[in-house]
Amino acid sequence: MKITTTEARPDRRRRKPGRDEALEFGKIFSDHMFLMEYEEGRGWRNARIVPYGPIELLPTAVVLHYAQEIFEGLKAYYAQDGGICLFRPDRNAERMNRSAARLCMPAVPVETQLDAIRELVRIDRDWIPRARGASLYIRPAMIATESALGVHPSSDYLFFIVTGPVGAYYAKGFEPVRILVEEKYVRATRGGLGEAKTGANYAASILAAKEAKAEGFDQVLWLDAEHRRFVEEVGTMNIFFVFRGELVTPPLSGSILPGVTRDSVIALAREWKIPVAERPVEIDEVIRGAADGTLSEAFGTGTAAVVSPVGSFSFRGREARIGNSGVGELSRKFYEEITGIQYGEIEDRHRWVHRVG
Ligand SMILES: Cc1ncc(COP(=O)(O)O)c(C=O)c1O
Repeated sequence: MKITTTEARPDRRRRKPGRDEALEFGKIFSDHMFLMEYEEGRGWRNARIVPYGPIELLPTAVVLHYAQEIFEGLKAYYAQDGGICLFRPDRNAERMNRSAARLCMPAVPVETQLDAIRELVRIDRDWIPRARGASLYIRPAMIATESALGVHPSSDYLFFIVTGPVGAYYAKGFEPVRILVEEKYVRATRGGLGEAKTGANYAASILAAKEAKAEGFDQVLWLDAEHRRFVEEVGTMNIFFVFRGELVTPPLSGSILPGVTRDSVIALAREWKIPVAERPVEIDEVIRGAADGTLSEAFGTGTAAVVSPVGSFSFRGREARIGNSGVGELSRKFYEEITGIQYGEIEDRHRWVHRVG
């Protein structure tokens, strides 16, 4: 698909953060964005890169009432050799289309998504921070734009991509997180939207996260909606445990997001011959394992942090410390391997890194 480009005028360029400026996630956006519309019967058209700015939407747009919306999140960064790279962007594009199918939205060909990302990153390459670990966050999204009330699949859609620089997640080094096991609220249930990356899942999570933060926790650990017994995932991360040397993570049973980082950790574990199991994990097993030492590590995985070691889980008012509440050996190993591959310091045996060129 042909992409037309209208560059921002030099006097309309946005202020770039300075080299040493702290970059808070999601607050600063680059000069350009990608837009493309879909109309029933006509398909996708008008693929274009234009200056970042407001989009026009009627108050009766379907997305504003019935949340027909999906999105993705990935990063572009400078590798050690000065090349611009993306980590497994094809996986994000495929997940976007699985989310689209669940939300009754049109697919965007994977190659079109990748072309749009590459072109947008190229034009705003000056926005990619140079510091190790810092990156340009890329946010593709699709919204239902038909002006009509009444619950139905929209006939019109807007697919867009915006980007913005973000700082290194661990600017001050690895910091284990304190997690609250959530029993009152649930995020998603089987047959619902849990495995789709759609705003509605995040709307469902805001109150729980706010209450947990007010109590001094970093994130919540979601339990399954039916039994409130099985572990699902953490805030915006998948969760892994190390029980007696075996790496264990809940299976993709329909209510959790199939993380790209989760898949990468499992692939590395298999390569390294570390026993790995995707199986249901009961919260009682976690609490017991923390107490008797059979659970030596727990960590979250996601694009933002890559690996986030868990220091403790708080369950029914009691704090279960994991290992020595520090950073486990495997947590560090996976973190170093994945970031090493991303930045071109370790051989990319799995062909995960895509060059923007
Ligand atoms: C709910 C949820 N689970 C898991 C993840 C981790 O997915 P990934 O590794 O693809 O970033 C994310 C982040 O996108 C998320 O929002």
